Amino acid sequence: MAYFDVIIIGAGAAGLMCAATAGQRGRSVLLLDHAVKLAEKIRISGGGRCNFTNLQARPECYLSENSHFCRSALSQFSAQDFIRLVERHGIGYHEKTLGQLFCDESSQQIIDMLDGLCREAGVDRRMGVTVGAVERSDRFRVQSSAGVFESASLVVATGGLSIPQIGATGFGYQLAEQFGLALTPRVPALVPLTFHADDAARFAPLAGVSLDATAGCGKTRFRENVLFTHKGLSGPAILQVSSYWTPGQELVLDLLPELDAEAFLAEREGSDQLLANALADAGWPKRFAQAWLDGLGFGGRVKDLPGKRRRQLAETLHHWRVRPNGSQGYKKAEVTRGGISTRDLSSKTMMAKDVPGLFFIGEVVDVTGWLGGYNFQWAWSSGFVAGENC
Ligand code: FDA
Repeated sequence: MAYFDVIIIGAGAAGLMCAATAGQRGRSVLLLDHAVKLAEKIRISGGGRCNFTNLQARPECYLSENSHFCRSALSQFSAQDFIRLVERHGIGYHEKTLGQLFCDESSQQIIDMLDGLCREAGVDRRMGVTVGAVERSDRFRVQSSAGVFESASLVVATGGLSIPQIGATGFGYQLAEQFGLALTPRVPALVPLTFHADDAARFAPLAGVSLDATAGCGKTRFRENVLFTHKGLSGPAILQVSSYWTPGQELVLDLLPELDAEAFLAEREGSDQLLANALADAGWPKRFAQAWLDGLGFGGRVKDLPGKRRRQLAETLHHWRVRPNGSQGYKKAEVTRGGISTRDLSSKTMMAKDVPGLFFIGEVVDVTGWLGGYNFQWAWSSGFVAGENC
């Protein structure tokens, strides 16, 4: 039976980072993944250019039962540390917006960099391997389609549930339960939200339009683009609030965040202008303005709008209330919110508090980043920390 110091299950973002780090420390590392292709989520990320980190990555940008949990890992291996790695490997990158860093060329460069680091560190990486039972006595014993392996440390880096078609499974959660760790509820996050059937019919003509808006859910607000789809709402502002949204809650959208709508309409009092044209002057696509007004029962000319209706319209423009009926689920979600409870893990090492040698890293843990490179940074940071300690 083959023995390794460390076995890592899952060769995605966190698993590769952990393997390279542990290997560089001289640990013998076996990295197992059931997928045939390496790190598909990195490959498809950021539209093929991998938004690999965010210059503003800080604990406030992560959702977790314990909002301080990610602090230690993010400071042990920061966005700047990953940027240095990228620069050392000559990978060109640029900031797109809001601190989001993307490869100039291709996300494959990030995969090649991490894979190269693993090779240099002597990591034994095996793809297309089905992992079966995991047992623990004085060592971990892992049954797999490539044989039975033993190790002193076991790192679980199996990711979340999103995009099952490229290999996402709940195996990491099963292992956590097997070893007595608690789980927090898991739901699709960074995901498009869907309209009720009547709203979907009413707002169908808006599909395809994207607007600068503020989307709010409870006390949380994001100002970015909102995209209207045939099924409901998407775009960065909606993906961001979706992580905070719970079924039954309403979203409040400010569709004219730059303008005082009441003053804007009052200035045009008595005007012959169609309301749709007035909103087009405010920057909306004309087609969108017409369809949105129709959907809400507003229409006609500005001069025909009595003061009370004008105030109602202004209020609706700044506080458009929409109650989604659900999300597009794991098929379209970028990440899973929830996972292995941080209560049962050390934030300094990512090791299970009650199971020496067992580590959980990356998205499988109840730490979920905002849209914009935060989730990869969590994968790099938690992977590095476990790699230093396993
Ligand atoms: P990851 O999913 O990367 O890796 C898990 C690995 O475990 C996979 O290789 C899988 O095959 C393997 N595995 C699962 N079950 C197994 C089992 N039973 N046995 C063996 N192996 C198993 N984030 C970001 O910061 N910037 C971005 O640009 C994007 N873009 C993006 C686009 C899309 C379409 C998606 C779906 C997601 C993103 N993300 C993102 C999120 C990001 O991809 C994600 O948070 C990280 O990949 C998580 O890294 P992990 O290593 O934890 O899981």
